[in-house]
Amino acid sequence: MTGAHEGRVVLVTGGGNGIGAATAGIVVREGGTVVLGDVDVTSARQRADELGERAHAVRLDVTDEGSWTDCVAYTLATYGRLDGLVNNAGIATGHSLRETDADEMAQVLLVNTIGPLVGIKASLDALISSPSGAVVNVASCAALAGLRSNVAYSTSKFAIRGLTQTLVHELAGYGVRINSVFPGYIDTQLSRPDWDEHSSAGEQPANVALGRTGHPRELGELISFLLSDAASYCTGSEFVADGGLMAVVPPRDLA
Ligand code: NAI
Repeated sequence: MTGAHEGRVVLVTGGGNGIGAATAGIVVREGGTVVLGDVDVTSARQRADELGERAHAVRLDVTDEGSWTDCVAYTLATYGRLDGLVNNAGIATGHSLRETDADEMAQVLLVNTIGPLVGIKASLDALISSPSGAVVNVASCAALAGLRSNVAYSTSKFAIRGLTQTLVHELAGYGVRINSVFPGYIDTQLSRPDWDEHSSAGEQPANVALGRTGHPRELGELISFLLSDAASYCTGSEFVADGGLMAVVPPRDLA
């Protein structure tokens, strides 16, 4: 424990499960207070109960502007400040071009890309008031190269990557940093359908240099660092945590 988040308040979207739940735990471990915003309010409450008095669950649907307004208002009314925003909530549909229709595309973009945009706008005044406001957007390695048979998801992640970079100068003008993280295969409910029949938690998928999937905690540590003052010179930077997945071309693709 370093106390890196002592006295600070962080809002984590999708905080009830997976990477968001792990990130929330690390912020609390480092002395901070965390608001877990999630449509899955049951999981968010359960996680907040595990984390203790410096964690609170709020029902947040990132696709709904009013829900964002309420969530930020709750945070400010309860804690009087907001220092960090983690745009982590996400969905994946796992469909090819032929399987993807415009409605699906719109829904995935709404959750994964437009939600974070609305969230940053809703949080902006509070983040500006913080002595060290910071945003972390959770992209994906599917924003570095197209993910086969995940058309809507990969497109939405390229878009949040672009959104993040586009906002760097504007937010720097307010003293707010913004960075993005690019997870590879992390062991959560979202990624498990991607694994082949030989995969199981903690093992491959193929092409991961470290030979295993990542633990949500391993992303949480990175996100916590980027939120903290230890990362005070990092903004507009892109941080990959993928066990080496993107470092090499898969052998089968050279054939
Ligand atoms: P997860 O499914 O465990 O957690 C996602 C959370 O987002 C859930 O608690 C869900 O209820 C919440 N959520 C979904 N729609 C929401 C909405 N409209 N409003 C508020 N909350 C909503 O998934 P995981 O893996 O923890 O994903 C977190 C982020 O990491 C996502 O953005 C995902 O795209 C990204 N990611 C995950 C990877 C993985 O291998 N697990 C790889 C690359 C990126």
